[in-house]
Amino acid sequence: MSFAPVKPEVHHPPLKIADDTWLIQQVQEAIIGPLYVYMNSLVIKGKEPVIVDTGTPANREQWLKDVFSIVDPGDVRWIFLSHDDVDHAGNLHQIMEACPNATLISTWFLTERHTCDFNFPLERCRWVNDGDSWRAGDRTLTAIMPPLFDSPVTKGLYDDRTGVYWAVDSFATPLPGPMDDISQLDAAQWKGGLEMFNCMNSPWFKLLDPVKFERHVDRVQSLELEVVASCHSPLIRRSKIDEAFSTIRGIVDLEPPPQPTQLDLEELMHALATGREYMWQPAPPNGA
Ligand SMILES: [Fe+2]
Ligand SMILES: [Fe+2]
Repeated sequence: MSFAPVKPEVHHPPLKIADDTWLIQQVQEAIIGPLYVYMNSLVIKGKEPVIVDTGTPANREQWLKDVFSIVDPGDVRWIFLSHDDVDHAGNLHQIMEACPNATLISTWFLTERHTCDFNFPLERCRWVNDGDSWRAGDRTLTAIMPPLFDSPVTKGLYDDRTGVYWAVDSFATPLPGPMDDISQLDAAQWKGGLEMFNCMNSPWFKLLDPVKFERHVDRVQSLELEVVASCHSPLIRRSKIDEAFSTIRGIVDLEPPPQPTQLDLEELMHALATGREYMWQPAPPNGA
């Protein structure tokens, strides 16, 4: 048996989401049912082109093709790495090799954490902490911690020229099928998906001080936001942004969602062996 990650069967081409800005898309099917999750990254093709996160190993070949269909490798000036999870840092080696004129935007702590997987060329690095900005040709880019995150080093990215905010893992949601824009999803399904996925991804939500969390979320929502682009969601455009933030603010009142157990894994294996479609359902409370 090969343990190599399985390439996505369907290609979702880059999607233009704002002036000079493209979403590089990948869709991953969930194991526990017919559900889909995006694994996105961004390319900003301004005077000094920027690549925002580096895709996944499973989609390496296609991700590189998609990125270089928009920008020539020699023109890339900046590579922004939000954090070192494999779905964000999956092609860091390849993109740094392919783009010799690119500076890697990261932080000291990200560098220390990820040196076990990547030999950081310090002369090509720039450390940008939460709240820091830098000028990328015709725009100012600012690192801003997203509302919720799953790594201590996570930084979102705000582009003042287009109002695009890269929310990293915040606003992640599972989907019944691929779609370009979150307005295509039923509102109740979106709310449920946002709640489940964000509780799962940031299990420390139960430790939050509600007042401090409100202030933390205010900081991001007070940016002039035109588009929120998340690694794990279809686009959230202006008309849907308040709804997204409102659901995220409500997370403090939720309970951790149930998760599949060993019994569910056995049922899944049986379904696979017998060619049956499987859709995980949480067990009723108290074994009822
Ligand atoms: Fe992550
Ligand atoms: Fe992620």
